[in-house]
Amino acid sequence: MGFVERSRELDILRDLYAVCATGRGRVALISGPGATGKTELLRAVADHVDTAGGLVLSAACSRAERMLPAAAMGQLFNSVPLPTEVMRRIGAFIDLGAATTEGDADIRAVHVMCVELLDIARERPLVLLVDDVEFADETTLRTLLYLQRRLTAAQILVVLAESPQPQPFNPEFRAELTRQACFCNIQLSPLSEAGVAEVLRGWTDDETALVLAPAYHRISGGNPLLLHALGEDRRAAGPTDATEAIVGDQFRQAVLACLRRWDPAILETAHGLALLDDFATPTLLARLLDSRPARVQWVLNALTMSGLLDSGRFRHPAARAAVLHDLDPDALSKMHARAAELLHSEGAPAPAIGGHLLAAGGLAEPWAIALLQDAATHALAEDRVDDAVESLKLAHEMCHDAPRRAALTAMLADCQWRVSPAAVSQHLQSQRNALRAGHLSERHAAGLLRYQLWHGHLEDAQETLRHLREARHQLDATTAAEVDGCADWLRLYFPVAFAGRGAAPGATPALTLARTDGSFGWVTPSLTAVLTEGVTDEVIARAEQALGSHMLVDVGPESALCALQTLVYAGRTDQAVHWCDVLGAEAGSRGANTWHAILSDVRSHIALRQGDLPLGERFAHEALDAMSPHNWGVAIGSPLSNMLLAKIGMDKLDEAKALLRYVIPDAMRDTWFWPLYLRARGHLHLAGGRVHAALADFETCGQLATEWGMDLPTLLPWRGDLAQVYLRSGRPDMARKIVTEQLSRPDAQNARTRGISLRLLGSALDVKQRVNTLRQAANLLQESGDRFQLALALTALSRAHYGRGEFNTSRVVARSATQLAKDIQAQALCRRLLPSGEAAGDDEADAPPEHEEMSRLSDAEQRVATLAALGHTNREIGKKLYITVSTVEQHLTRVYRKLNVRRRTELSLGLPMDSAGAGLLAVAPSSAERPWPQWDSAAIQAS
Ligand SMILES: Nc1ncnc2c1ncn2[C@@H]1O[C@H](COP(=O)(O)OP(=O)(O)OP(=O)(O)O)[C@@H](O)[C@H]1O
Ligand SMILES: [Mg+2]
Repeated sequence: MGFVERSRELDILRDLYAVCATGRGRVALISGPGATGKTELLRAVADHVDTAGGLVLSAACSRAERMLPAAAMGQLFNSVPLPTEVMRRIGAFIDLGAATTEGDADIRAVHVMCVELLDIARERPLVLLVDDVEFADETTLRTLLYLQRRLTAAQILVVLAESPQPQPFNPEFRAELTRQACFCNIQLSPLSEAGVAEVLRGWTDDETALVLAPAYHRISGGNPLLLHALGEDRRAAGPTDATEAIVGDQFRQAVLACLRRWDPAILETAHGLALLDDFATPTLLARLLDSRPARVQWVLNALTMSGLLDSGRFRHPAARAAVLHDLDPDALSKMHARAAELLHSEGAPAPAIGGHLLAAGGLAEPWAIALLQDAATHALAEDRVDDAVESLKLAHEMCHDAPRRAALTAMLADCQWRVSPAAVSQHLQSQRNALRAGHLSERHAAGLLRYQLWHGHLEDAQETLRHLREARHQLDATTAAEVDGCADWLRLYFPVAFAGRGAAPGATPALTLARTDGSFGWVTPSLTAVLTEGVTDEVIARAEQALGSHMLVDVGPESALCALQTLVYAGRTDQAVHWCDVLGAEAGSRGANTWHAILSDVRSHIALRQGDLPLGERFAHEALDAMSPHNWGVAIGSPLSNMLLAKIGMDKLDEAKALLRYVIPDAMRDTWFWPLYLRARGHLHLAGGRVHAALADFETCGQLATEWGMDLPTLLPWRGDLAQVYLRSGRPDMARKIVTEQLSRPDAQNARTRGISLRLLGSALDVKQRVNTLRQAANLLQESGDRFQLALALTALSRAHYGRGEFNTSRVVARSATQLAKDIQAQALCRRLLPSGEAAGDDEADAPPEHEEMSRLSDAEQRVATLAALGHTNREIGKKLYITVSTVEQHLTRVYRKLNVRRRTELSLGLPMDSAGAGLLAVAPSSAERPWPQWDSAAIQAS
């Protein structure tokens, strides 16, 4: 590193030397805070004098040698080889053993040494350089003053360097020194930004140096030692284009070196400053350090002057961290305890005091527990969950009052649930005991209920719910609404423990779930009522209100999930996705990991209902990656079954099989997650040809759904699943019967459930009757937006045509199915199901259509032709495509001409897909314009 921005000072010193060389002696004192380049400047003076033919004697004083008489004078005389005669004459005075500060002897020593120096200077100019003169011994100081008084006719230049001290050792010396006319003071300060840029030029090209200079000046404050260390850090990082400073170990060490080279009081104040950070005022620091505010202020000024501080704070967090790290753990912890007390006495905010209490490992003060609790609340509000957990754990450790301990544990559980629900299980027993002992507030009891359910402690959950219901009149509005809102949830997901609770006498439990009294607007509508009684605008509005009216991460997931499912089962998947994104963004930005996992699971479920297998698989992975299986509690059944269904659809049977190795908690068997899981497992059995195993799983699903009063095909289409087993085992009559039963269920009228049922029914019908039913199924499934089920329906339709000897039509429908299946990576499955010879492989799907004439149809003609082929009237087509009947007729006329057919029945389904996957799918104009919903997963991914 070059020596920059010191030319003015060096010029002054050169001039002084020139004056002294004319026989007029001079004294210069270089002052400057730590590491501003005093020693470096002395070195530069020495070089200059050397070159100019003068003689340099130099000494560097140190705190350790301050009490050694004539220590610095000894260094001066020994710094160059002097004539033996001279050394003999002064030897006794600079011999450490013999030297004394006592009375006459010392005065004689001073006199003799001065005479010798004046004598040496007669020959050639003599320059005495004394570094760190603030630590010089008494004899040396006296000698220097003695000499100064005799300089007027001597060729002697004395250059001293000093760092300011909070309590100067030698104030008289300084006063005397500065009084003389031949004295000159040179003040050093840190480098300017331009100076920093000049130093940077030593490391990099001019242009980069200019770019980097502001950042390096900001961090180093222009202190050359710190700047030099930052250079080392940058070099250590290897070649880089970073326009920011690289702050590393060298910098941290340099900060400490800077402080240690100085007075111990400075390091001590720096420790206090690092500890109190934003709360550091001179008064508070003085109290912390048992010092005086004026003295502390002096140190702060000195540190600012040296470039270490800016506006009374460390310029970089790394500097502060290094200073804190410098304290040994015991001292640090004591200092934190003292800081906590001080800040508390000053009425500082809880988070600031809490940090010190934590670092001190607690404090036996009555206020400390409440303060930690307060600090935890603040931390949680700022989503610093780890800090909240730490505060609560410490508060709990310090607390011996049972109700208070219970409240602290409840808060702790709330925090932990956000990121790792498994951690909550350790509190379940103590919280249950607290509930029984009457130590738990109703609000905390509601939380306990959630955690008991999550971990499958169903009997305890029943007890907690009983307690909450009995205390209903005491519940605050939010808790009451939460309890009400979760009733639907309880019945649906925990039917063994909660079936029938709250049901109207004589009513079917499934139909009377959670009728809220409406006292709280955001309470979700009953999902099962939505399924059985249909969707109204009011229901959707209420669901959206529930999703939008709260910072949901702060409350339990039940009401949000109920609302999301309401939207999903009401066919409002776009809205459900929107809310998943909104909540996902909130969960992501607030580090609510559990929420992120749950929402990923919901997204996976939605994707599967839309037949988007890859997306379903991706979100299921995300859900399981975000939270390990033991954290999922009994809810593990949900992501697992989603993942299984996605993988089965994509024909990844080995991967699906591997999922069965996940250990399922026993308690899951009494929850709705069990039939969900069984159903997915059953499909894996079926795909692997294990028909009996599949049968057993599907039958159990049916049994449970019926027993639990949850026989809703939209939620659990176990009859359809059984029908598939019957079809596979060559029992179409049984399949027909059971699907017909499914079709008659009250909640089976929506497009998707009906479409799937008709697909299965079609496959179970006589070959001649199949086509119509399957076409109907295809239409419904297209309307529902489930691409996977549609691909399966088209596959079955292709088989049906094949069975009727309509090979061309069969082939074209097969192509549509394959094209569709390809988009959702289900082509392997379709290929297996399609009639041999009709399966259009990947290559074939991309190949030019065999029926060249079809490719000549315009998009509009294709859409009209497709709808006509599906059996729609011209009026219906016009309505669906928003065109007039006469436009439909014109399109059809052209289609007939191009395809060389005479009537619509000849159109069949032999129409090609357009490039966007529309064509056959383009029944609704909205679908034609926006073929399939696109996923905006950014929010979830960002979390
Ligand atoms: N003007 C400068 N330009 C470039 N580097 C410098 C400059 N001044 C000092 N340095 C470098 O900064 C570091 C500290 O300088 P120096 O030791 O001279 O400071 P000091 O004021 O004597 O410190 P202390 O107060 O600890 O005695 C050294 O590595 C030195 O080379
Ligand atoms: Mg120095």
